[in-house]
Amino acid sequence: MSIQTTTTANVVLPQTTREIQLAARPTGAPTAAHFALVERPLAELADGQILVRNTWMSVDPYMRGRMDDRPSYIAPFQLGEALEGSAVGEVIVSRADGIAVGSTVSHFAGWREYAVLDAAAVTPIDTTLAAAHHYLGALGTTGLTAYAALTDVARVNPGDTVFISAAAGAVGSVAGQLAKAFGAAKVIGSAGGPAKTRLLLDEFGFDAAIDYRAGDLAGQLAAAAPAGIDVYLDSVGGEHLRVAVEAIRPKGRIALVGAISGYNGDSAEPGPDLFKAATREVSLRGMLVNSYFPIFGEYIGKAADWLADGTIRTTETVYEGLEQAPAAFLGVLSGANTGKMLVRLG
Ligand SMILES: NC(=O)c1ccc[n+]([C@@H]2O[C@H](COP(=O)([O-])OP(=O)(O)OC[C@H]3O[C@@H](n4cnc5c(N)ncnc54)[C@H](OP(=O)(O)O)[C@@H]3O)[C@@H](O)[C@H]2O)c1
Repeated sequence: MSIQTTTTANVVLPQTTREIQLAARPTGAPTAAHFALVERPLAELADGQILVRNTWMSVDPYMRGRMDDRPSYIAPFQLGEALEGSAVGEVIVSRADGIAVGSTVSHFAGWREYAVLDAAAVTPIDTTLAAAHHYLGALGTTGLTAYAALTDVARVNPGDTVFISAAAGAVGSVAGQLAKAFGAAKVIGSAGGPAKTRLLLDEFGFDAAIDYRAGDLAGQLAAAAPAGIDVYLDSVGGEHLRVAVEAIRPKGRIALVGAISGYNGDSAEPGPDLFKAATREVSLRGMLVNSYFPIFGEYIGKAADWLADGTIRTTETVYEGLEQAPAAFLGVLSGANTGKMLVRLG
C-alpha cells in the first residue's frame, strides 16, 4: 500500500531543527555549561513516519541521573547527542496511516523543536479532554506517579494521615489532592519556603504545610501530626525519609518515589533507622512509573474528570523557548518551580 505524504497547507517545512545536546558530564550540580544548543539537518521522512513540531517539553529531576555515565534503570544521555524526554507536539507532515496532519501527539523526543518519528513512537492525545500541556503533568507521568504511589505502592485508606514531600511540585501537588480525594483525614505537605507552603494550603487543599528550609523538620512534622503518619510519599530521601520513618505508625506505608536531595551526589544527610520500620511492620516499597504504563489510558480518563470537576487543581512554571530548557531543568532541581516545570516551544 502506498501512503500519501500530507502536510499542513501553507506551512514552510523546516529542513533543520535546533536541539539541546549534552556537552559535558557534571560532577555534582550541573550548570548551563553542560548543555549545548545545536542546529542540525532533519532526516527525510520514510513511509510510516511523521514530522512533529514540538509545542511543549518536560524537564524532570530523573534526567540528572542520565547525565552521568553509569548503569541505571535508564540509559545515560550520550555526549554530543540530543537529550530526550517527554514532549507534545503538532503533526505537520504525515507519511503514516492513521496519524493526521494537525493532530497532537505525545512522545519522548523532547529537547528539540522538530522531530522525525516513527508512528509507533508517538501516542495521539485528545486535546478536547484537556489542554496539551496537561499530558506532561497531571495527565502525564507525574500525575500517574502520584496516582500509582497512593493507590498501589503505599495505599491511602480513609482516615489516614498522609505526608507528602516535594509537595508543591508536579508529583507532590497532585498526590496531596488525590490523598484527600481518597479519604485521608489529614494531608501534610513539605516544601521549600513560605510562598510554597502558602500555596499548599490555599491552592492545593493540604491541611498542614511544613517549610523544610526553616529547619527542625521532625519538630514541624510532630506538630502537624502528633499521633504520627500512616502514609509517606518520599520524593526527597535523606532527612525527609529519616524523619518520616520516625513518625510512621505501625503498619504504615512508604512509597519510595524519588530521592532528589541526593541527585547531585552531594547529600550527606543521614538515612532512616530501618529497624524502626521493621518493628513497626512498615512497608517501604520502591516504584518506577513505567510499570504503570498499562493503566495510563485508564488513568488519563480519570484524571481528566478530576481536572474538569476541580478534584485536581494544577499550576505550572513555564520557561519560554528551547534555549531556556537547560535553565528550566536546573530550576526543577533547585526548586524554581511550583507545580509542573515545562518549556513552551511553540
Ligand atoms: N519513581 C518514578 O517513577 C518517578 C516518576 C516521576 C518522578 N519521580 C520523582 O519524584 C520526585 C518529584 O518529581 P517531580 O517531577 O514532581 O519534580 P518536582 O517535585 O516538580 O520538582 C522537584 C522539587 O524537588 C524539590 N527539591 C529539590 N531539592 C530538594 C531537597 N534537597 N530537599 C527537598 N526538596 C527538594 C524542589 O522543591 P522545593 O522548593 O520544595 O525544595 C523542586 O521543586 C523526584 O524525586 C523525581 O525523581 C519518580
